[in-house]
Amino acid sequence: MFSVRNGWLFVEDVSIKELVESYGTPLYVTSRSTLERNIKAYKDAFKDAKLLYAVKANNNLSILRIISANGFGADVFSGGELYIALLADFPKEYILFNGNSKSDEEIRMGVRSGVAFSVDSIDELYTLSETAILEDSEVRIAFRVNPEIDAKTHPKIATALRTSKFGIPWEGIVDIYRTAYELPGVEPCGIHCHIGSQITDISPFVEALEKMFQIAKQVEEIGVELEFIDIGGGLGIDYEGKGAPTPAQLAEKLLPVFENGLSELKSDPELWLEPGRSIVGDTTVLLTKVNAVKKSYKNFVAVDAGFNLLLRPAMYNAYHRIAVANKMDREGEEVYTIVGPICESGDILGEDRKLPKVEKGDIIAIFDAGAYGFAMSSQYNGRTRCAEVLVEGSHHYLTREAESYGDLIVKQRIPEHLL
Ligand code: LLP
Repeated sequence: MFSVRNGWLFVEDVSIKELVESYGTPLYVTSRSTLERNIKAYKDAFKDAKLLYAVKANNNLSILRIISANGFGADVFSGGELYIALLADFPKEYILFNGNSKSDEEIRMGVRSGVAFSVDSIDELYTLSETAILEDSEVRIAFRVNPEIDAKTHPKIATALRTSKFGIPWEGIVDIYRTAYELPGVEPCGIHCHIGSQITDISPFVEALEKMFQIAKQVEEIGVELEFIDIGGGLGIDYEGKGAPTPAQLAEKLLPVFENGLSELKSDPELWLEPGRSIVGDTTVLLTKVNAVKKSYKNFVAVDAGFNLLLRPAMYNAYHRIAVANKMDREGEEVYTIVGPICESGDILGEDRKLPKVEKGDIIAIFDAGAYGFAMSSQYNGRTRCAEVLVEGSHHYLTREAESYGDLIVKQRIPEHLL
């Protein structure tokens, strides 16, 4: 939880001043109590469903340990995420290996780990079957269905449009289940979809679930016994203070559709959900120091974090609330555009924000940075990734060290003749 005391932003009972003095800037800071509040909201709302946290949103191991200790499974989208999820102790029966372009090596790794797969193509199905036979195992699978639903979100994060690269078009899916049912090494037992991210209207989720049940009925006729129907992630959060649905509101609309759908099935599948952003998004603030304030075409505030550390504003025009963490009790005085240190004109973190008078050395807080923040960071422009810290009450813990310049070149090799 975040609060203001004596003009300073606090994360739980720790002042930003203390954090910046201890770890420097830029710095990602996560509030454990906020994370636990979000986890509880989902667990309370979806008591009989299985929650699989989307590791792509934030793969900090300490955060993952808290989530896995709360009984979550995991949605992973790569061999790397699978590796991290296993390290964080997510139970393998509730790890779903998603991905539209898995390599043969990743498929082998998934089969050996004993996790379930969401299969995104016929090519993947055959590779999976062959691999499972070679490894002498049987893999539980779902197909990633494209239900063709416009989730009314940013086009770059709508994932179930007809034009989307993800999933298998729903029209042909039953035949593919039939093929899978007859193939050795794979056991079709689930149906999966994911319609997009940062969705703030519940109706597309309902529409998707209804479509999943239409498919489920036909798939059962083949003989498939369904263990799960996975509706993906995607619940949005309130970046702009305009409101966003809660897990309880999502459950209120989805669960009756699920119960009703179940009554028409022979098998008794679990409902699976894969929330990412709504678990970690608002738990974390990115702290960045002002290097310079400049009046030119606009009032520019140049800070030490840019799209190397928070890509969302540059990539999706995303809005993140911004405040001066050491002047929280002062009124907005001037309009500033907050820019990062990257050599690109698009390196803008917030445009035309009314803030108290900003000066060199001030600490800027960028809120709601816990989802797809650090996870999408890069070393572009020779910028090292910053540290991450977890706050628990009045304690704070370093959960990821800042990179050093050596980390920029650690994997580079120079051929002998260039030495
Ligand atoms: N499951 C699957 C299969 C997904 O592809 C995703 C997100 C999720 C679950 C989690 O969705 P969430 O609950 O976090 O909305 N980088 C973008 C978001 C990309 C989301 C990709 N898939 C952003 O910063 O807005």
